[in-house]
Amino acid sequence: SALVRSSASAKQSLLRRSFSSGSVPERKVAILGAAGGIGQPLALLMKLNPLVSSLSLYDIANTPGVAADVGHINTRSQVVGYMGDDELAKALEGADLVIIPAGVPRKPGMTRDDLFNINAGIVKNLCSAIAKYCPHALVNMISNPVNSTVPIAAEIFKKAGMYDEKKLFGVTTLDVVRAKTFYAGKANVPVAEVNVPVIGGHAGVTILPLFSQATPQANLSGDVLTALTKRTQDGGTEVVEAKAGKGSATLSMAYAGALFADACLKGLNGVPDVVECSYVQSTITELPFFASKVRLGKNGVEEVLDLGPLSDFEKEGLEALKPELKSSIEKGVKFANQ
Ligand code: NAD
Ligand code: LMR
Repeated sequence: SALVRSSASAKQSLLRRSFSSGSVPERKVAILGAAGGIGQPLALLMKLNPLVSSLSLYDIANTPGVAADVGHINTRSQVVGYMGDDELAKALEGADLVIIPAGVPRKPGMTRDDLFNINAGIVKNLCSAIAKYCPHALVNMISNPVNSTVPIAAEIFKKAGMYDEKKLFGVTTLDVVRAKTFYAGKANVPVAEVNVPVIGGHAGVTILPLFSQATPQANLSGDVLTALTKRTQDGGTEVVEAKAGKGSATLSMAYAGALFADACLKGLNGVPDVVECSYVQSTITELPFFASKVRLGKNGVEEVLDLGPLSDFEKEGLEALKPELKSSIEKGVKFANQ
């Protein structure tokens, strides 16, 4: 009978809840810039993620359409679109994780820093709203220049009195995704098995892949390693030039952003040993923000892992990136405090 069935299913759900492996907590994820080139495929990928129960899609335009479209997919999360300043509070309230791909992308000939003037202001406003409406959320910053937008976010959060350095992440996963792809091609190893840490920041020479630590190991020549490093550092520019004025990486970035968000959610949910590279507040070097391997946990950053052994080539790269990264950090801090 229906009664027997429902009491059996109640028992089952009780059982499920009593085993941590069987219970999937409710998690609200907000994407700010959700109708953009990254935002749309990222919304799709987050809709496919079973760890998400509520997906909040915010942009200054076009979110009703994106939300209606993605919302028809028969997966766990409830999707709601929010448009314009007046709806930002509702978009953020109760969020566990906020992903920010809002802002303008590069055109050929531009550096990421050329985006500063427009994107710094966008990030500042969005972070002020996060401080107000979901101060405990993890923040995944995608908007460029990441080397400066993360320090801007930190300063805005400090001013609001809710800054928790464990909860702020610059997304550098695309650098790792590229390093893995390029390495697998040269090393002739299965790409799915490849791991390559990428440290530093997210622009040009500040992106430093550590191919000396790549697994599976391969005996690549110095020339090949130099070329692989350069291709990883210029990966974004490669896409910008190929798109010839129609923006920068969106699909590979959505993939990378979804991967990093999934790692953050797993950390929040208590899954052990979740390690990803990310640009975070750091004491690994003398710079206040630095990308390196980070262990993710229930409060965000659980541990910033040290760099491990570097080759001489990588040691030189590390010293060479510091001045640019330092000035990008200072530029962000100054902007937020002016
Ligand atoms: P896009 O122009 O296609 O989309 C940006 C979206 O942001 C648009 O829909 C726009 O309406 C929205 N937006 C603008 N101001 C906003 C605001 N105040 N609030 C909410 N949304 C707002 O650009 P894109 O290709 O999606 O790139 C977005 C950003 O991501 C750029 O800054 C780009 O440089 C950066 N990016 C970073 C990485 C990385 O590895 N971290 C990779 C690729 C791109
Ligand atoms: C990337 O690495 O693809 C992004 O940072 C976008 C860009 O401007 O290169």
